Amino acid sequence: MSLRYLSGGESHGPCLTAIIEGFWSGVEISPENINNELKRRQQGYGRGGRMKIESDEVDILSGVRLKKTLGTPITLQIKNKDYENWKEVMDPEGEEDDKSRSLIEEKSVTKPRPGHVDLSGALKYGHKDIRNVLERASARETAVRVAIGGLSKELLNKLNISISSHVLSIGSVSINDIAGDSFYESADDSETRCLDKNVTEKMKKEIDTAKERGESLGGTFEVIVNGLPPGIGDYVHWDKKLDGRLSSAIMSIQGVKGVEIGLGFESSRLFGSKVHDEIYYSKSEKSFRRKTNNAGGLEGGVTNGAPLIIRGAMKPIPTLYTPLKSVSLDTKEAFEASVERSDCCAVPACSVIAENVIAWEICKAIKEKFGGDSFEELKRSYEAYLAYLREV
Ligand SMILES: Cc1cc2nc3c(=O)[nH]c(=O)nc-3n(C[C@H](O)[C@H](O)[C@H](O)COP(=O)(O)O)c2cc1C
Repeated sequence: MSLRYLSGGESHGPCLTAIIEGFWSGVEISPENINNELKRRQQGYGRGGRMKIESDEVDILSGVRLKKTLGTPITLQIKNKDYENWKEVMDPEGEEDDKSRSLIEEKSVTKPRPGHVDLSGALKYGHKDIRNVLERASARETAVRVAIGGLSKELLNKLNISISSHVLSIGSVSINDIAGDSFYESADDSETRCLDKNVTEKMKKEIDTAKERGESLGGTFEVIVNGLPPGIGDYVHWDKKLDGRLSSAIMSIQGVKGVEIGLGFESSRLFGSKVHDEIYYSKSEKSFRRKTNNAGGLEGGVTNGAPLIIRGAMKPIPTLYTPLKSVSLDTKEAFEASVERSDCCAVPACSVIAENVIAWEICKAIKEKFGGDSFEELKRSYEAYLAYLREV
């Protein structure tokens, strides 16, 4: 059975839910670790008011018994703590009556925001109230994707595969442009997830300035996967190529507009001899190695044993406190687009989300190569493959 999941839930509805199918039995799960991923998603300088309300926690409702997976569908739920304030407007079983009507009207959205799917979504589904679109399209949905990533990381850790991320730039401030002299041990220690302490401070100032101007900011981040053997992913069909699948996972995060792997766009400007990673054989480590890692660990959609390096570019948050011009959905008259409570910059959170969507994709690729219904079965075939690689 392959791995897959479906999720449901609105931003201000009762909860977000996912049902995961095909996850191995016998994997020890720590809800604290999943909650820690959820907490990491909620941090970062430049977030708006909602982060203070949320403090997400996962409820595991099926597929796990006494902290061990059963091989049955795993149901994860994250309650929306803000739902209490929205119950009358969002209750799936509620009714529009005289009491709730004025509140529903008050919370209805008719002015589509540029940069959101508000207008296209309303036209596509025939909604008059754009709330019906934004409730699902908003990045709140990524909380459940991060919980799934947290579950995936539990498995990957047991195979000695680790995933980290850090922020490379916010607005015009980039770690590459400044010769930093003091570094954090982990991106988690920085409010902007930037490894350089001085650049972190500059990024915070950049965000403050944007906020003062009623502006928003985007930026770039990098995800690194360590510990993957060569041979994960496939080259035989376009939709099995791991580079395509990882790019798609990152691109599907709200606000991401660019993805690159390894040298990415830069490789198009260089001579071939400066791009391709030369191969040598390490007798001591009994493995084929690369002198450089410009390919970001992937050639032909298959891992080559070097760390995976994937970067994403996030656009500035579309909701601005200096609203952009738009047109009312019902009257067609020009308006300044409505302002929902909004983040000014969410690049640090986006980098955590990216880590977690990558964790899921790696799990899927591992399942395809090594199969297994139980963790023990997976481990046997994984270790046999590692032993084979040492003997090639
Ligand atoms: C963690 C995170 C938080 C976000 N917060 C906001 C926000 O507060 N306000 C907003 O307008 N957009 C926010 N966005 C971006 C929008 O959700 C996104 O731009 C929009 O759904 C349109 O999708 P697209 O940019 O991928 O085309 C956020 C994105 C992420 C990843």
